[in-house]
Amino acid sequence: MVKICCIGAGYVGGPTMAVIALKCPSIEVAVVDISVSRITAWNSDQLPIYEPGLDGVVKQCRGKNLFFSTDVEKHVSEADIVFVSVNTPTKTRGLGAGKAADLTYWESAARMIADVSKSDKIVVEKSTVPVKTAEAIEKILTHNSKGIKFQILSNPEFLAEGTAIQDLLKPDRVLIGGRETPEGQKAIQALKDVYAHWVPEDRILTTNLWSAELSKLAANAFLAQRISSVNAMSALCEATGADVTQVSYAVGTDTRIGPKFLNASVGFGGSCFQKDILNLVYICECNGLPEVAEYWKQVIKVNDYQKNRFVNRVVSSMFNTVSNKKIAILGFAFKKDTGDTRETPAIDVCKGLLGDKARLSIYDPQVTEDQIQRDLTMNKFDWDHPIHLQPMSPTTVKQVSMVWDAYSATKDAHGICILTEWDEFKTLDYKKIYDNMQKPAFVFDGRNIVNAEKLREIGFIVYSIGKPLDPWLKDMPAVA
Ligand code: UDX
Ligand code: UDX
Ligand code: ADP
Repeated sequence: MVKICCIGAGYVGGPTMAVIALKCPSIEVAVVDISVSRITAWNSDQLPIYEPGLDGVVKQCRGKNLFFSTDVEKHVSEADIVFVSVNTPTKTRGLGAGKAADLTYWESAARMIADVSKSDKIVVEKSTVPVKTAEAIEKILTHNSKGIKFQILSNPEFLAEGTAIQDLLKPDRVLIGGRETPEGQKAIQALKDVYAHWVPEDRILTTNLWSAELSKLAANAFLAQRISSVNAMSALCEATGADVTQVSYAVGTDTRIGPKFLNASVGFGGSCFQKDILNLVYICECNGLPEVAEYWKQVIKVNDYQKNRFVNRVVSSMFNTVSNKKIAILGFAFKKDTGDTRETPAIDVCKGLLGDKARLSIYDPQVTEDQIQRDLTMNKFDWDHPIHLQPMSPTTVKQVSMVWDAYSATKDAHGICILTEWDEFKTLDYKKIYDNMQKPAFVFDGRNIVNAEKLREIGFIVYSIGKPLDPWLKDMPAVA
């Protein structure tokens, strides 16, 4: 029986291993983590992450061929294939601060693997890491190996949160990079055999190590670039009277472009896009390619611009001040169907409004109060100027309350900001909400999910990203 161990029971490791266990009954999968609370949660009915369909898969396999454990060393030493799926945040200090990936967790995992291994192993890079990490890891492993042979593979994960299980069950492709030596090819084949249990062979792509590592960064950079492109267009649409939905539909019907990832929004978030682009920028700079670095930086700059533009639109529409006004924030997660708030645009929008002394009432169906407090008090890291911006003071954060439904959030509010596209926000009783709000009542739709015309009929003043402006907003000063 092949034994797999995955180090890191997070958003990537947990769902990926659950699906491998589901599809490969003959393989024993152990997911290990140093965090006792995370592992306890994986072993309970309340999984540590919210992901549609995950509960069912875990329930089906847990205790049979899927195990969650804090006994990291035991499971690593017994495994034939070790996936490493630990966190790789952006460095906050030292060389490359604000851009380079912090590989502390990776390095400590690699040293531990070398330390506890008693048999040959395939070590699989699953976290997003900078190109050439595999080489560094290979060095750590071989210099500490005590004669044991390690083969390093890069097998980047392309799942998106909220659709992780579907993405894993029916991947567009599985990418496996390895050494071009006979041993490297043998290791690639061993991992291929795992995926071949459910992924058609023509969807399993094999490359050299560097191509696999770079493809992951490139794919995320291309996706983020599409969003920044359409968001940049949204500003121009507002200025000219074009409608971004019509423009992106027209653009997306060109088969060379395609329709996906062209939804204008308040900005992209998530743990990957910004981090991976910063990584790409850093690698370009280190390789003497400043023009290429500048090109990709612009994707993040437009994303920051879009979040600022949204805040400015809110403030300028409401007579240039939101001081002491109650603003309902509907949605805090970085996208629907997840409770994840990493790099969510809601953080910057909320901080922007708090900076103008608004009172915020926040509702998200999956994000906890603790998480929102942490996000709003956290140091903001300015990637372009590696200094820490001041966190929100405790008095500012007192301007924030968290509630458990959209109706309480909007009661007596002056305005509503929709920041996550949760389905339930489409079907709220907006007449009831309007009746309970201060007048004039504003809706700022950062995800273009409400029917603006219907809301205007009720009496709302509505701002939708990239759409022809409400007559009210046209009379307000231009937004920088
Ligand atoms: C992304 C990649 O899609 C995935 O392949 C990779 O492995 C990890 O990073 P994820 O961050 O989970 O996945 O979600 P994704 O669906 O890509 O959305 C990222 C952000 O872009 C979200 O904030 C989303 O709201 C935003 N977005 C997405 C838009 O603003 N417009 C779009 O058209 C699509
Ligand atoms: C383009 C648009 O494709 C067309 O829809 C529009 O109406 C007019 O402009 P055209 O300029 O005739 O058409 O040719 P196109 O095939 O788009 O190529 C433009 C340039 O891009 C060429 O120099 C081509 O060599 C180059 N190109 C194209 C690349 O370098 N790489 C590619 O992958 C594709
Ligand atoms: P991702 O979104 O990439 O899955 P997460 O932050 O959700 O990232 O998960 C990474 C997990 O890796 C965390 O639960 C963390 O506790 C775990 N981790 C980090 N370093 C180690 C290590 N050396 N050994 C075991 N687990 C680790």
